[in-house]
Amino acid sequence: MEGWHGWDAYAPFYDWENARTVGRRDIPFWRRQVVACGGPVLELGCGTGRVLLPMARTGEQVVGLDRSSNMLGHARRRLRRARGTDSARLVRSDIRSLPFASDGHFSLVMAPYGVLQSLLRNQDLRRTLVSVRSVLRPGGTFAMELVPDVPQWGEYDRRVSHLGRRRGGAARISLVESVRQDRIRQLTVFEQEFTERRGRRRTTQRFSLAFRTLSMRQMTGRLRRAGFTIERLEGDYVGGPWTAGAETWLVVACRAR
Ligand SMILES: C[S@@+](CC[C@H](N)C(=O)[O-])C[C@H]1O[C@@H](n2cnc3c(N)ncnc32)[C@H](O)[C@@H]1O
Repeated sequence: MEGWHGWDAYAPFYDWENARTVGRRDIPFWRRQVVACGGPVLELGCGTGRVLLPMARTGEQVVGLDRSSNMLGHARRRLRRARGTDSARLVRSDIRSLPFASDGHFSLVMAPYGVLQSLLRNQDLRRTLVSVRSVLRPGGTFAMELVPDVPQWGEYDRRVSHLGRRRGGAARISLVESVRQDRIRQLTVFEQEFTERRGRRRTTQRFSLAFRTLSMRQMTGRLRRAGFTIERLEGDYVGGPWTAGAETWLVVACRAR
């Protein structure tokens, strides 16, 4: 299993589900990073453009990179419809080997909403950190959100997680989810089953998404070894202190000069 598997199948449901979970709560945090650092900005795993679009509205040059062509398709359509986002560019690639010259071009690299947790092996994370360091200018910022506590979530089987309609749509959507864990490899695997009902028509999509959750100590250790200094740890989107039980885990690191 690879962490980039499953996202093409998830793409049609991603915004629908996220409107019910993180929503836009993290956007002010990311906007503050962009305003403080300036561009150019690179977003790792930009997905459907949920974060990229408001960042483009700051007027800074922003590049969104993702491996899933279906997630990028949604981002492309979103950007086309939106105003004030001409500074955004989309790139299809893998975060483990960034397709940019190693010339320290970017002022800020962002990894929102657990993107780095799609890296399932030590070597994947190591390659990504080396690649990020090479595209950041010396002193540039690498900011990330880690979704906490995933390993503590109990395993469950076929739980109905969400039921509802798309905005303005006639179809009813349901999500039935199972979670299993491999504590030795620090992996949590979500088996997802989305069913869309429109009148008597019914379509079902099944796929799995896997995430690896390191402790904060492990993550900051890996960042330091890859040539980053840790600037700040925050535990919520408004600058609250980080604790292991915090609502979210935000790390702001800096490329050592
Ligand atoms: C949790 S979503 C985050 C999307 C967006 N940043 C947001 O906050 O809504 C993770 C994204 O990372 C992408 N991804 C996962 N592994 C990847 C990899 N190795 N290289 C590039 N993109 C990857 C997935 O395709 C998906 O779009």
